[in-house]
Amino acid sequence: MNNNLVVLKLGGSVITFKNKPLSANYKAIKNISKILKRLTTPLIIVHGGGSYGHYWSVKFDMHTEPAKYDPHGISTVHSSMLTLNIIIVDALEKEGLNPYGISPSTFLNNGKPYSNKIKELKKMTEHNIIPITYGDIVYIKNNKYSILSGDVLMTMISRILQPTKIIFALNVDGLYNNIIDKKIIKEINFEFEKKKQRVINFERDLTIKDVTGGIKRKVEEATKIARTGKDVIFLNGLDPIQIEKAVKDKQFKGTIFKGKI
Ligand code: IPE
Repeated sequence: MNNNLVVLKLGGSVITFKNKPLSANYKAIKNISKILKRLTTPLIIVHGGGSYGHYWSVKFDMHTEPAKYDPHGISTVHSSMLTLNIIIVDALEKEGLNPYGISPSTFLNNGKPYSNKIKELKKMTEHNIIPITYGDIVYIKNNKYSILSGDVLMTMISRILQPTKIIFALNVDGLYNNIIDKKIIKEINFEFEKKKQRVINFERDLTIKDVTGGIKRKVEEATKIARTGKDVIFLNGLDPIQIEKAVKDKQFKGTIFKGKI
C-alpha cells in the first residue's frame, strides 16, 4: 500500500489531568491542535481515556476482559468518552481543521477488527478529514462488553493501514533507561525485548488506577507494531513541537522502536 499517513495516539495523561476526575487539559489539547494545524500529512488520531474513561471504568469495575458489566457503567464510560472526544474535536475545529469523531465500535464485528471499516479511515484522510477515535467500552458479543484501549486500537489501525508514522504522545519524553538517571532510550530494537521488564517510566497515576495497563501496555503494543516492520515513536505530547519534528522527519526528542519483521 502506498501510504503517506500519520497515526497519532494522544495519551490520556496528555489530554486530561489523570489525578483529577473528569478534567480535560484544555491547554495541552489546544497546543497540540495548533501544531497539527501546521502539518500537511494525512492524519488519524486515537485518544485515550485519562480521567474520563479510566475514572468511570474503575468505579464500575470494568476491564479489558469481555464480561457482562453493569449496563449503567457501560453507558457512563461511553458517554464520558464521547464528552472527551467532543472536547478534542472542538479544539481541532477551532484551529480550522476538519476532525470527525468516530466511535471505535464501528471497527469491530463480533469483537474482531473489521478491516473494511478501518480502511475507510484512510479514505477519509485523503479528503482533508481527520478521523478521531478513542479507547472506549465496546460491545463484543453475547451481552459481553470490554474496554478497548486506544493503544490496542493503534495496533489494529497500524496493521491494516500500514502508516508511514506511528506516534504515541505521552506525558514524558520517551522511555527512560532507569528511574535514577532518567536518560531517554533513543532507539529500541529487538534486543530490547530481553530487558523490557526493566524499563521504568514516570507516567504517574496517583489516584486513578489504569484499567488498560499503563506504560506496559503501550510498550507491548509498540512492540507488536514494530514486529510488522514499522517504526513506532514515543514522544512527549506536552511538548507538541516534537510531534511536528517527528512527522517532518526532523530530529526530535523521544524513543523509536525500530520496526523489524
Ligand atoms: C482507555 O483508553 C479507555 C477507557 C478506559 C474507556 P486508553 O487505555 O488508550 O487510555 P489512556 O491513554 O491510557 O488514558
